[in-house]
Amino acid sequence: MSVVIVVGAQWGDEGKGKVVDLFTERADAVVRYGGGANAGHTLVINGAKVVTRLIPSGVLHPGKRCVLGDGMVIDPHSLLEEIGQLRAKGLLARGELLVGQGAHVILPYHKLIEAVREDKAKSAGRMIGTTRRGIGPAYEAKAARRGVRVRDLLIPARLRALVEQNLDELVPLILHFGGAAPTADEVSKWIDDALAAGETLRPMMGDASREVAHAVAAGKHVLFEGAQGSLLDLDHGTYPYVTSSATIAAGACQSAGLGPTKVDAVIGITKAYATRVGGGPFPTELDDETGERIRQAGGEFGAVTGRPRRCGWLDLPALRLGVRLSGMDGLALTKLDVLSGLPEIKVAIAYKLDGVELDEPPMDPDDMGRAEPVFTTMPGWGPIPKDARDLSDLPASARHYVEAVERWAGVPFSLVSVGPERAETIAISDPFA
Ligand code: GDP
Ligand code: IMO
Ligand code: MG
Repeated sequence: MSVVIVVGAQWGDEGKGKVVDLFTERADAVVRYGGGANAGHTLVINGAKVVTRLIPSGVLHPGKRCVLGDGMVIDPHSLLEEIGQLRAKGLLARGELLVGQGAHVILPYHKLIEAVREDKAKSAGRMIGTTRRGIGPAYEAKAARRGVRVRDLLIPARLRALVEQNLDELVPLILHFGGAAPTADEVSKWIDDALAAGETLRPMMGDASREVAHAVAAGKHVLFEGAQGSLLDLDHGTYPYVTSSATIAAGACQSAGLGPTKVDAVIGITKAYATRVGGGPFPTELDDETGERIRQAGGEFGAVTGRPRRCGWLDLPALRLGVRLSGMDGLALTKLDVLSGLPEIKVAIAYKLDGVELDEPPMDPDDMGRAEPVFTTMPGWGPIPKDARDLSDLPASARHYVEAVERWAGVPFSLVSVGPERAETIAISDPFA
């Protein structure tokens, strides 16, 4: 195996960062595809926490190439801040980073329009609950063919013209949503700051798709790191409560400019339960003490926004959809330890809608909101030993849960995670083998 894609199987925050960090041991390059600083991937090594937002979670392995693919939307100031934090830890010291020149740039007006639009939608009860990092507006500009690309940060006249063109369209909209138009001084500062960031990033910019293709052709191990989750995919997720990029495995090919015939394996990451941040239907949501217990035990608060994550039981219809959309041939089950101590565990094995049983979520968000989960109940388990490294080290009920989920999902597990630390992992198969 040479090319492996890691993808979130649910609504994000499944523990992709931890798994990517582990798999990077066997990889030569790690490529982030899609999204931007809406992602927050937390890595815990010997008690020390690192959160990656734009930079691939392979960054803790010095010398491994870290690529930001052309399908991303990059806030240059966030990127420089993240680079600074990692360098302060002695990382990224060997020129590991490659920033795709074709990636799009998030500018302050993207965040401004998003904030006023979300505030207005909130009062109308239609808020998406975005991370307010400018993701949607930057992808809108890209699709409208007036986006600013990383490369444009090196061409002052082009950047100025693009900002002017964009603001010409956006200012009336900002005013319509009740916001204040930026002053001429603000706009010129935005441009100067973006140009300065571009100069700092210049040595890291390059042709990401060509480099990735060459690495693959040379038989190198290339790991793609998905952000968000399958159910947040723009085309196939729970639209409109989704992000604005392709989060499924196909997005890796699209973002990196790599043909699908080159992909060897797709590993989906699923939690042992489900979480969701922001709005949108969530049939297995637990709006009670059990949900709160899971939130506290799992530390389910957003790494990017600090928002409490909505928690619920594992949702197999949603997981099946994720498996199907990305063609997952392996799964990693994370956060099994978080369910320890609960007297019983429920799993939604199907939904019921208007008397009909469904094995996958319905496409319409209102239908999904009305769907009733069909639960099966399993016995709970006590603490999972910190040093569990084999499935046989798990309490019997936890092992039965893992086996049942694997059977229901129809895909074998390649690892089971029982704690945030690198070592707290039951490795079952090597994705690059
Ligand atoms: P990502 O966005 O998919 O990378 O996931 P996040 O990093 O946003 O959220 C996952 C959180 O769970 C992080 O704080 C991880 O450190 C933590 N985590 C990952 N795996 C496990 C696990 O098996 N058990 C526990 N208790 N925490 C885990
Ligand atoms: P990682 O990579 C969880 C959600 C937001 C919101 C919707 C749209 O850490 O798993 P956006 O800012 O993208 O326009 O917001 O998508 N969302 C995430 N939820 N994890 C993420 O990333 C997310 N990225 C976006 O909460 O509901
Ligand atoms: Mg996250």
